[in-house]
Amino acid sequence: MAKKGEVSDSVIKRLPRYYRFVSELVRDGTQRISSGELAKRMSVTASQIRQDLNCFGGFGQQGYGYNLPELRSEIVRILGIDSSRKIILIGAGNLGMAMANHMNFSDYGFKLIGIFDSDPAKKGTKTAGLEITGTDTLDDFVRENSPDAAILCIPKENAKETADHLVKLGIRAFWNFSHCDIAQGHEGVIVENVHLGDSLMLLSYGIANS
Ligand code: NAI
Repeated sequence: MAKKGEVSDSVIKRLPRYYRFVSELVRDGTQRISSGELAKRMSVTASQIRQDLNCFGGFGQQGYGYNLPELRSEIVRILGIDSSRKIILIGAGNLGMAMANHMNFSDYGFKLIGIFDSDPAKKGTKTAGLEITGTDTLDDFVRENSPDAAILCIPKENAKETADHLVKLGIRAFWNFSHCDIAQGHEGVIVENVHLGDSLMLLSYGIANS
């Protein structure tokens, strides 16, 4: 069993993709798979699969392949997605509402416990089983509920100030959609930035170079 810190960052970055493929196979009732077969499905090399999954210890056996339910459990454990970490959403605009309504947070180890927006007109609207709350109640809510993380779906002009404030209140992890470097000055705070536009630019690059 791999211990914390024993799996390299590059393997960790590939784990969500392994998780998706392995979960689908388990859902379909497949119990085991060879590295060659998994490689074919994932369009990577068998040696990459063996190298990556070797980090976790005894899953691949010569002539047997990988035990998929066990492999899945190990990936779940390493990613920590069997938890129920409390997360709040800041910014209930177009993107924020899409997040609240379409992300199955529990599949990823999170529970959405609060939605906040500075626009008083949005206050009281119900979404994803929660009422949108004004930012005037944010401090009390964070002190009472100690969320583990916050999602930022607010304009970049307001993102740094909001993040600084949330860090002061004790929030140590951010899923940041605002195009702003919120990590500056916050050593040890975990920031996962998401830029859909980066992916689209890579699509453009692919087309331009095909
Ligand atoms: P929007 O204008 O529909 O929603 C923004 C919401 O944030 C509004 O409801 C507003 O009242 C609220 N807000 C503003 N300042 C706030 C604060 N300090 N505290 C709490 N609420 C606050 O905008 P949309 O389309 O939802 O986009 C949100 C952000 O996400 C924008 O910065 C946009 O550029 C960015 N974005 C990022 C993407 C990505 O891939 N990372 C993709 C699309 C948008």
